[in-house]
Amino acid sequence: MVQKLTVPSIRACKVADGADPLVMVTAYDAPGAHMVDEAGADLILVGDSVAMVVLGFEDTLQVTVDDIAHHTAAVSRARPSALVVADMPWMSFHVSVEDTLHNAATLIRAGAGAVKLEGGRRRLPMVEALVAAEIPVMGHIGLTPQSVNLMGGFRVQGRSAPAALDLVAAAKALAHAGCFAMVLEGVPDQVAAMVTGSVDVPTIGIGAGPDCDGQVLVFHDVLGIEQNIRPKFVRRYADLHSEGVEALTRFAADVRSGSFPSVGESYRLSDEDFEALGLYSST
Ligand code: KIV
Repeated sequence: MVQKLTVPSIRACKVADGADPLVMVTAYDAPGAHMVDEAGADLILVGDSVAMVVLGFEDTLQVTVDDIAHHTAAVSRARPSALVVADMPWMSFHVSVEDTLHNAATLIRAGAGAVKLEGGRRRLPMVEALVAAEIPVMGHIGLTPQSVNLMGGFRVQGRSAPAALDLVAAAKALAHAGCFAMVLEGVPDQVAAMVTGSVDVPTIGIGAGPDCDGQVLVFHDVLGIEQNIRPKFVRRYADLHSEGVEALTRFAADVRSGSFPSVGESYRLSDEDFEALGLYSST
């Protein structure tokens, strides 16, 4: 049996200490979770990116705790060995500590082993309260998509020396508050290297260069299902959109030509029952 990955085992994964880089991929349903798990990822993130890549929204601000809980439950029903991390959506941890605890508990009860939340020092009281309530927390700093309106778009962060030092300070504070790992999104690679070197918990990069303790990408980007948005940090390993359209086109052609379904793809009565059916219908 494959060993279930735990928060302490992930927390210990610093590349500088000889660990292999962590692999995190998003998933939002059971088949996706099976695929990511079979590929050997260490962590599955039920990201609020579900808003953009699955639900068709333009940003991540539209999803709710109930949405993430619904997708987390689907992912956890796949019983992955990877650690399932549920994203706390916008406004689920901004109002009060009580609210944050209640919302995080909903995600843990849906099957997550940890939660992730965006933001730096402003979120420290929430992080501390979650850890005190035995809920493991992954931080997320740099380009935080929930701040899209405040940032004036999805913009790379930490581009000046003061901004870079601010990110280092935020990372240290989050680690000190008890985060077991943190996502570094959309920051220059030198800044990501600095942050990674200044905390004793793993950093997991996305658009943050090669010097993090791991990397995360969105399922639909890796597999080439997402067609609309293609940031420069995405490497596509398949073109499932084109393959899917091609397969569906062949299905449509087979239906229209009458070649689907074949006899082998249909259910049949036995000759005896078919004859009896004739007798009944003629009476
Ligand atoms: O929601 C998400 O997919 C994320 C990753 C991009 C880190 O937060």
